[in-house]
Amino acid sequence: MLIALFPGDGIGPEIVAQAVRVLDALAIDGLTYEDGLVGGAAYKAVGHPLPPETLDLAKRADAILFGAVGDPDCDALERRLRPEQAILGLRKELGLFSNLRPAKVFPELADESALRPEVASAIDLLIVRETNGDVYFGEKGFRTTADGLREGYDVMSYNEAEVRRIAHAGFQAARARRGKLCSVDKANVLETSQLWRDVVIAVSADYPDVALSHMYVDNAAMQLVRNPGQFDVIVTGNLFGDILSDQASMCVGSIGMLASATLNGSGQGLYEPIHGSAPDIAGTGKANPLATILSAAMMLRYSLNLPEQADRIEAAVAKALADGARSPDLGGTMSTVEMGDAVLAVL
Ligand code: NAI
Ligand code: MG
Repeated sequence: MLIALFPGDGIGPEIVAQAVRVLDALAIDGLTYEDGLVGGAAYKAVGHPLPPETLDLAKRADAILFGAVGDPDCDALERRLRPEQAILGLRKELGLFSNLRPAKVFPELADESALRPEVASAIDLLIVRETNGDVYFGEKGFRTTADGLREGYDVMSYNEAEVRRIAHAGFQAARARRGKLCSVDKANVLETSQLWRDVVIAVSADYPDVALSHMYVDNAAMQLVRNPGQFDVIVTGNLFGDILSDQASMCVGSIGMLASATLNGSGQGLYEPIHGSAPDIAGTGKANPLATILSAAMMLRYSLNLPEQADRIEAAVAKALADGARSPDLGGTMSTVEMGDAVLAVL
């Protein structure tokens, strides 16, 4: 089983190194790693954020463990050369359309949440976000209006096939959890959302055991703060899912805790923390590696079919937190490496 390691920029190399230590501690038979350059690191080395060798390695690998991309030195580059294009390019080239973002509050961290502890402690939800379509990938550009005004436009579209496959991903995830699926859209004003809703309802016929509900995205944003415990699985489009999952991270306590998987339906997946490259703390040893370590656990569960090993990592993180492991984002003083040590000590 080949794992592609793409540490990327900023804190990426520091946090991926801790996840690799944790994987090594499990001594899994037949696991091999290959490193690849992505993001600003790749641009600086070879002139492109997603070089052909990296893409080739990504296609050959059973799974990709990704740190983060984004480098302030690259801010002035044209869009196609920006580090962030690496993640969009990998999602598109590998057909990674289903982004799973679990949000759960570790009991010890309920006080870190932006919400009241009793509200926060009820959070145990999964956002299933579509990542191959929507307004991010539609036709876009600038034009001039009849009155000579400069105008920007981005076309939002979804077709039935795109919605059907993410709907199945949502229902299957709900079936494996508490059996509740909330589809989030804006069907009161958007045709893409009306189609989304029609298709989700049609797909629901295959999942009579899952309770389906629908919510408009503005209400969903409000409900995530008011009563997040009502949600089990949320399925939504690329734009709405991007925003709602960042919002969910603050409900959980720290963006340094949230893992994600992006799958293409063939078993292959890309695993990364939901945060970015955190240039403000890169190199200081302040980065919390737990989101990346938990992403490695998702990798074992979804791409390598090793659910018991995934459980071991998740339990070790929970125990390390219960024993008091705290990086600065969690109100403590432990370094990135010390947080890794704390998880290893439990394992
Ligand atoms: P960010 O997530 O990198 O940082 C936001 C804030 O959270 C910062 O104050 C940072 O120090 C803190 N933070 C993030 N991860 C942390 C961790 N593990 N431990 C402790 N604190 C942590 O988002 P920002 O600042 O908006 O973006 C920085 C760069 O990352 C940009 O270039 C952006 O485009 C890129 N980015 C890349 C992503 C990816 O690779 N998938 C996702 C999001 C942003
Ligand atoms: Mg985001």
